[in-house]
Amino acid sequence: MSGADSPFFIFAHLRILQVPMAIVITHNPHETEALGAQLVTTLMQNQALRATSTIIALRGNLGAGKTVFVKGIAGALGVNEVITSPTYVIQKTYHTHAPVPWKRLIHIDAYRLQGEEELTTIGWDTFATDPKNLIVIEWPEQVGRGVPTQALDITINHIDESTREINMPYGDTEGSVE
Ligand SMILES: Nc1ncnc2c1ncn2[C@@H]1O[C@H](COP(=O)(O)OP(=O)(O)O)[C@@H](O)[C@H]1O
Ligand SMILES: [Mg+2]
Repeated sequence: MSGADSPFFIFAHLRILQVPMAIVITHNPHETEALGAQLVTTLMQNQALRATSTIIALRGNLGAGKTVFVKGIAGALGVNEVITSPTYVIQKTYHTHAPVPWKRLIHIDAYRLQGEEELTTIGWDTFATDPKNLIVIEWPEQVGRGVPTQALDITINHIDESTREINMPYGDTEGSVE
């Protein structure tokens, strides 16, 4: 990658749980997938984020690239299966096969859910408390307060056909988490 084909980074001062946030511009799906993999590295560097299950709230319009991003996460976790959008089945669980602190990747597409009660029907209360689970939920706004406040927020904005702006935690924690 070089020149205009490299992701463009802006590091923001905003911190959530003292994890540095970055605004990254990607120019194709491959770069977005690579950022998903990078997120796994960031999460592993920030152990305090993993006291319970690790929850990622992944925001962005239809076609923004949320599922592409999840493919990158799955690749870094050593998931063997092909990741497809769980739009109809709502939730898919994959087993990890890499030296990572999570045993499972739980991919949820809440697009068809209405309200936090419907999260309960897919078993949320059981899997959301297990530190061995890395949970990624697309369309978290559909289930309102069902997604706990300690979830990490990632937003993908559609800029043009091939350009996306991604706001995500990036890098090592500076200092201890309060
Ligand atoms: N920079 C980019 N990052 C991610 N996807 C991109 C990018 N440029 C084009 N795309 C395309 O946008 C679509 C994103 O689809 P998908 O990940 O299923 O979206 P979502 O899950 O947000 O609805 C794919 O067809 C992908 O090829
Ligand atoms: Mg999707």
